[in-house]
Amino acid sequence: MKKLFLLSLMLVMPMFAQAGGGSNVHLDSIQTDATDHASLQRGMKTFVNYCLGCHTAQYQRYIRAAEDLHMPEDLVTEHLILSNQKVGSQMTNAMDPKLAAKWFGATPPDLTNEVNLRGADWVYTYLRSFYADDSRPYGVNNVVFPSVGMPNVLAELQGVQSKICAQVPKKDTHGVVMIDSLTGKALTAQSCDVLSVEAGTGSLSQAQFDAVSYDLTNFMSYMAKPYKTDSQRIGMWAILFTMLMTVVFYFLKKEFWRDVH
Ligand code: HEC
Repeated sequence: MKKLFLLSLMLVMPMFAQAGGGSNVHLDSIQTDATDHASLQRGMKTFVNYCLGCHTAQYQRYIRAAEDLHMPEDLVTEHLILSNQKVGSQMTNAMDPKLAAKWFGATPPDLTNEVNLRGADWVYTYLRSFYADDSRPYGVNNVVFPSVGMPNVLAELQGVQSKICAQVPKKDTHGVVMIDSLTGKALTAQSCDVLSVEAGTGSLSQAQFDAVSYDLTNFMSYMAKPYKTDSQRIGMWAILFTMLMTVVFYFLKKEFWRDVH
């Protein structure tokens, strides 16, 4: 019994693993859609143009993406393979990991499994949470990944974000505003939660940039679970089959037991 309990505990543990992503920063939530091929194709385009220079996706082959995202192979070769790789190759790059570690303080990790590791909400929020910070080597920091080594490679699209700090009322754990007992005034604390894009610094509007980030995260979610649509489809048939068989076996049982009194 104890073993069974431990086993069931181990089975549910991975569900909580993602929740403990480290910091308790608010993450913006998105619904990824593995069937939205247009979004996935746009995401792949952004990925090869802006990410593949530093990051690899070594468990993803171009040809598999071509099949899954319904793209003709010759178009993939022409538009989405920016190196001299073949369509059957894995999505890798020529960056020397040792040099990258020297330049950025950390080697850019492989991103095939990133969404499994961090979750889609985290990646989506991360991409939109870079802000200007002069104390960092590349002049940027990130709300969900403090002191990140990655430069803000999408800055030309999004623009430069800065943190807006304001004095806000201090609240206790129940959300009630705290009062200074000596002065009777509300206590305040500095809050720098809000990021704002400096006007004229990016080529896209905020909504357009959110859409680019969504498509990119959607593509990264597909890479992390390329079998998702297949398993959903097969799962549906498996459930239908079980339901059908339940009916068949119910009548079969009735038939078997009819003469037994
Ligand atoms: C100029 C090189 C460079 C480019 C281009 C780049 N990155 Fe990064 N990225 C890095 C480095 C370096 C790190 C590791 C940061 C660290 O550990 O401090 C990183 C980290 C990350 C992480 C966090 C990994 C983790 O620890 O979980 C994600 C997610 C990520 N990058 C996504 C992207 C995406 C998506 C793109 C394309 C839009 C991109 N990166 C483009 C250099 C780059």
